[in-house]
Amino acid sequence: MTFTALVLRRDDPDAPPSARVEQLDDARLPEGEVVVDVARSSVNYKDALILAGRPGLVRDFPHVPGIDLAGTVVTSDDAAHTAGDEVLVTGCWLGERHWGGMATRARVPAAWVVRRPAGLDAQRAMALGTAGFTAQLAVDALVRGGVTPDAGPVLVTGATGGVGTLAVVLLAAAGFTVEASTGAAGDADTVGWLTGLGAAAVLPREDVSGAASRPLASARWAGVVDVAGGATLAGALAQTRPGGVVAACGLADDAALPTTVMPFIVRGVTLVGIDSVLFPVDRRADVWARLHAAVPDATLAGLTTTVGLADVPARAATLLATGVRGRTVVDPAG
Ligand SMILES: NC(=O)c1ccc[n+]([C@@H]2O[C@H](COP(=O)([O-])OP(=O)(O)OC[C@H]3O[C@@H](n4cnc5c(N)ncnc54)[C@H](OP(=O)(O)O)[C@@H]3O)[C@@H](O)[C@H]2O)c1
Repeated sequence: MTFTALVLRRDDPDAPPSARVEQLDDARLPEGEVVVDVARSSVNYKDALILAGRPGLVRDFPHVPGIDLAGTVVTSDDAAHTAGDEVLVTGCWLGERHWGGMATRARVPAAWVVRRPAGLDAQRAMALGTAGFTAQLAVDALVRGGVTPDAGPVLVTGATGGVGTLAVVLLAAAGFTVEASTGAAGDADTVGWLTGLGAAAVLPREDVSGAASRPLASARWAGVVDVAGGATLAGALAQTRPGGVVAACGLADDAALPTTVMPFIVRGVTLVGIDSVLFPVDRRADVWARLHAAVPDATLAGLTTTVGLADVPARAATLLATGVRGRTVVDPAG
């Protein structure tokens, strides 16, 4: 038997890997107890970094990318899973140290496999994907930290990206007043799009990052979901209200954090780290069920673009260069 995969090959260690759709024999599948027929994957920021050959993510080539997959179990050597199970895998080391979801077939460790909640088909699961899962973890962190809708507005940075978009939807659905910051705040169409998803206000990125050089600035937000790091996160911390909670998810701006201790010791702000990769697998089904319930199908469909394997390299390059709105689902047979 053979399967179709997007294969990254690196002949020159100083150049980005090449990416091509290839037919591979099933014997090439990596170790793992569970074989899955993959119905959908998705393009996340990390996938784009991997396709661009950024160091530190993939060590061995050839490599099949895709940190997300949803599909149906074909065979399982582990009693926890049976042929026919509708499943998903996100994070763990899928698509990084282990061949990933951008293929019609995958073999994965049983310990990574999550049963999909009833009604969550592969398309919707991957429209949510790691981005949605991460947004839900970030919202959970705010709520756990005591941020309530009446505590004041909450900020979402990188609001047109995958995590940002879904954080806007989740927070608005939970009754929060959401302020969405974006590099595209000058574009009326983008403002209308974010408002339609539930943002009460749309701010230019500079409203957040502009305060980065000040230890404290006017206290604006009761909670923050940040995907950017760098000056964006520093500016958000400086403008968080006393007792507020800031969930740090990403580094789309910068991995550095040029801040001071002032937000922590003067305003009691809490900075929470979000990690979707190693989040315990036995707690994931609950997160997926709540995420699925909170995001209406029509909203999800409206923020999703679906592409085939051959379109992934161009889509990933655009995501890094200019950003893409919302989420990109991959149909490996498409
Ligand atoms: N911790 C975790 O477990 C986890 C999980 C998933 C993702 N992440 C991280 O979260 C980040 C977002 O991931 P994603 O999949 O949502 O990516 P994405 O879809 O590419 O969204 C990133 C967004 O960040 C904004 N942005 C880009 N450059 C920026 C800059 N210089 N300053 C401020 N904002 C900038 C853009 O939105 P606007 O144009 O609207 O500003 C962009 O659309 C990435 O760093 C990713 O690695 C972490």
